[in-house]
Amino acid sequence: MKSLVLPDIEAYAEAHSQPESDVCRRLREETYRKMDCPQMVVGPLEGAFLKVMAMSVGARRVLEIGTFTGYSALCFAESLPDDGQVITCDMDSESTDMAKRYWAQSPHGSKIHLRLAPALETLQALSGPFDLIFIDADKANYVNYFRRAVDLIADHGVILIDNVLWNGDVLKHPAPDTNTAAIQELNRVVHAEPRVSAVLVTIRDGIFLIKPRPSSKTHLQAAQQQAQQ
Ligand SMILES: C[S@@+](CC[C@H](N)C(=O)[O-])C[C@H]1O[C@@H](n2cnc3c(N)ncnc32)[C@H](O)[C@@H]1O
Repeated sequence: MKSLVLPDIEAYAEAHSQPESDVCRRLREETYRKMDCPQMVVGPLEGAFLKVMAMSVGARRVLEIGTFTGYSALCFAESLPDDGQVITCDMDSESTDMAKRYWAQSPHGSKIHLRLAPALETLQALSGPFDLIFIDADKANYVNYFRRAVDLIADHGVILIDNVLWNGDVLKHPAPDTNTAAIQELNRVVHAEPRVSAVLVTIRDGIFLIKPRPSSKTHLQAAQQQAQQ
């Protein structure tokens, strides 16, 4: 993945952010030694961002779409309270076997629950609310994942979507390939969705940070409660 941020700036940001845990570092290093696409791991800077986001919303229940070797799932688990839960979805047993080996070495690993199946099937069967939802899997389904995430997210929660700058290729028209087209479509859909407020953050490969707008139901309940007081 080409860096969209100057490498020195990236290194400086990483050096001044919460460091990764020892287990995460070893997991990342083995992923880089053994896997074909190791750059799929979010890495220390984005990992720190995910942890701070989870803490900011007081997350107890996190849903992740795209486990790979388990780095980001472990980042979330490390930021949750003891009774917290990360449900993470993937359908590749080779990479998730490595994930399970490292989760077992962490005192936070027991908070992580892997669902090994096509993520859309898992999402249909899950009930919300979740405090944080992280989307980082097949780009062709990004719009489907986002739509389901809007149904499953808590009012106070946050949805994060990774790789939304796609190496800068989102600027190319016409799109050079189907993944770029899928991400361009996702970015249009999020921008036009009236139920959320969103900001596209230029960390690493781009992260959409999305908050549900307080639902009209919540407003109505608040107004009724105020009227009764
Ligand atoms: C970018 S990687 C996830 C990286 C991970 N979040 C991390 O930071 O370590 C994407 C993962 O999505 C998985 N994936 C792709 N299509 C999927 C699908 N339809 N259902 C579930 N998982 C899928 C792949 O097997 C791959 O492990």
